[in-house]
Amino acid sequence: KRLVVLVSGSGTNLQALLDAIATTGAEAYGAEIVAVGADRDGIEGLARAERAGLPTFVCRVKDHGSREAWDAALAEAVAAYEPDLVISAGFMKIVGKEFLARFGGRFVNTHPALLPSFPGAHGVRDALAYGAKVTGCTVHFVDDGVDTGPIIAQGVVEVRDEDDESALHERIKEVERRLLVEVVGRLARNGYRIEGRKVVIQ
Ligand code: GRF
Repeated sequence: KRLVVLVSGSGTNLQALLDAIATTGAEAYGAEIVAVGADRDGIEGLARAERAGLPTFVCRVKDHGSREAWDAALAEAVAAYEPDLVISAGFMKIVGKEFLARFGGRFVNTHPALLPSFPGAHGVRDALAYGAKVTGCTVHFVDDGVDTGPIIAQGVVEVRDEDDESALHERIKEVERRLLVEVVGRLARNGYRIEGRKVVIQ
């Protein structure tokens, strides 16, 4: 299976996928990353892709006349690599109708909170501020909402009294990277069905 991974930052989830595929072998893992895309330049996530010898592309909102035009351009850029699955690994933009028309049902996102709790761009900060005792991460299919698509898997992380946002996020990312690697491999190897809010992996 062909994966395109979308990033916006440090790309440690991308790195976890790259390392797993390199260790396991694309054949046994069931997938290979064919390209990495971003919504901005100069991020570590793109540098990681370049170090791995992968094609990269950048699709910036400000280079397009409207949000819709950006969304269509992103869909085109991704489609050029003919992915079976698109993985948002810390991609911090909300895609639109055009992108979902083409990749809905095979667009997976990872979120650093236990959805439906704490959706949006500050899930770690919000859980901490709320005083949650446990939080975690969610791997889900992307639908037309924000972090509202069918849940594939979740991992739980204890919140410690001494946690600040970055310490908690780092601990969440340790679980998140393992969960993403495991889920993407299973989706790629076994195939899956989405039945309403349920995801059935064969
Ligand atoms: C991840 O925790 C992701 O869930 C969140 O931002 C983080 C990205 O980390 N949206 P990285 O870029 O994969 O290191």
